[in-house]
Amino acid sequence: MFIICTFFQKKNQNQTRQIKSLKHDFLLIKKKYKKAIADFLDVDPAQVSLYWRGRVGLYCILKAMEIQPGDEVILPSFTCVVVPSAIKYLGAKPIYTSINPNTYNIDVEKIEEKITEKTKVILAQNTFGLSSDLNPILDIAKKYDIKVIEDCAHGFGGTYRGRKNGTSATAAFFSSQWNKPFSTGIGGIVLSNEPELAKKIQFIQESFKSPSTKDEIMLAIQIFIRNNILKPSIYWAALRLYRWASRRGLISGSSDAGELENAEMPNNYLKKGANIQAKVGIRALQCFSKNLSHRKKVATLYNNGFVKFNIPPIYCPNYATHTYIKYPILVKNQDTFLRLAQQNQIPLGDWLNSPIHPIRENLGRWNYKKGSFPLAEKIGYHILNLPTDESISLKEAKRILLFLENNQKEILCTWRDL
Ligand SMILES: Cc1ncc(COP(=O)(O)O)c(C=O)c1O
Repeated sequence: MFIICTFFQKKNQNQTRQIKSLKHDFLLIKKKYKKAIADFLDVDPAQVSLYWRGRVGLYCILKAMEIQPGDEVILPSFTCVVVPSAIKYLGAKPIYTSINPNTYNIDVEKIEEKITEKTKVILAQNTFGLSSDLNPILDIAKKYDIKVIEDCAHGFGGTYRGRKNGTSATAAFFSSQWNKPFSTGIGGIVLSNEPELAKKIQFIQESFKSPSTKDEIMLAIQIFIRNNILKPSIYWAALRLYRWASRRGLISGSSDAGELENAEMPNNYLKKGANIQAKVGIRALQCFSKNLSHRKKVATLYNNGFVKFNIPPIYCPNYATHTYIKYPILVKNQDTFLRLAQQNQIPLGDWLNSPIHPIRENLGRWNYKKGSFPLAEKIGYHILNLPTDESISLKEAKRILLFLENNQKEILCTWRDL
């Protein structure tokens, strides 16, 4: 009896030691990931925190800024629905503002008229990877004692007046979801540029749940499939399958079905970053510069091709360097163009197809009144985007250009043609 008890005691002790050592390894991996991000952004790792998705990071920043029910947050009328959702989860009100149709970012001239005594935050987005013009936004914020958050979901790796995206405002969040500048499957990062706020953010982040073992395993499988099986030739079939499975909650998709139905916080929303995200993120950051320069090469190729058939290249003001995570184009008819693209196996994307992508009906659930920003709405019905990521070789990009050249009459020159 004594021998059996000692045997099981020893076995338990061994298991506890193994679990402790595993937990220690995971902590080290996350620490290493935070350091890799901090090194890239040239900030202190204490300013960085990790989340299951970027939107959770935004929620955490707003909570740390003590955003209360009734407070107002100014944001561009050309964003992703999860952004106003995070605002609404705190009982605050998203206040949509016009966009500059050249940059697809918030129209700086229109911000001040939206400010009331309830305004607490201005969200400055890096749409498609291009920074908003931050200096005038920061001046307005200073004048009214408002905070600025950079939505760098598309902007990791870009710069504003020589500074890395995310480092100029009070705080910023990044996304490392599938199509973002670097990918960990899904994932979010927060950077706080004020030490007191950074401490509060850290405290709140620590109260969030860790992703479950099932979350970790499912994401690992998806990352494996994406890296080893997905090719441009099966893009459309894979996209259909991905959207189908993610709507049914079978995989970790861009958004859960509930997130697209209303602005109520889903169960298990408040999650920290996962171990698998840290592991994959460290590797992704090692080849980040190479991938960014690939995107720039592909974008230059598209730019040069477009100039040849009299379409102006992507707009890039001199205050910013672009990450070109997607190359936006405007077409006469989205459905027709997408059908043509599918027939020719051209992997086109459809962001941002509405002021609160991908919602086209019941926008009022997110406080967006249909018709309030007609230009942004029109752009949503005509915009598509070309891929620039490393899965697109220069040869493939030339094939895409040839497809565009052959369907030139379907492409619009600028938003003025809408
Ligand atoms: C402009 C913008 N902001 C925020 C997000 C949210 O990022 P995540 O999917 O990591 O929550 C997205 C998602 O694509 C986005 O496009």
